[in-house]
Amino acid sequence: MRHPVLIAASLLLLSHSLSAAGIPDSRRAELLSLLKHDCGSCHGLSLKGGLGPPLTPANLQGKPIDFLTATILYGRTGTPMPPWRPFLSNAEAAWLAERIKEGVQ
Ligand code: HEC
Repeated sequence: MRHPVLIAASLLLLSHSLSAAGIPDSRRAELLSLLKHDCGSCHGLSLKGGLGPPLTPANLQGKPIDFLTATILYGRTGTPMPPWRPFLSNAEAAWLAERIKEGVQ
């Protein structure tokens, strides 16, 4: 039988790996550039929508960070939304999900 403390510890590790803590400033600048140029090529340069839906706080309202993070990491099968897992860590995808939910200028 698994020990509850072990289960709690692995849950903690899991949530830590999905948190945006510990991303250096230099990498944050790269991620914002990726967001503008790569994501912007489909979602619009100002993220107000294009081939992909707007990545704005209004459109993302009610969508949990974990859901958006998973969309970024794994893409959406059957749609043009590609998986970014080869290029982004879990923490980086979560950080981007937080940025678009808060609104990026
Ligand atoms: C090749 C075009 C393309 C690129 C590049 C792209 N997306 Fe998408 N994205 C889409 C499409 C199309 C959808 C809508 C999928 C659907 O129909 O559910 C989508 C959906 C999403 C969603 C879900 C939005 C919602 O309202 O549920 C998020 C979040 C997202 N993209 C983030 C990103 C991020 C962040 C990047 C860059 C790292 C990115 N996308 C790059 C095409 C793209």
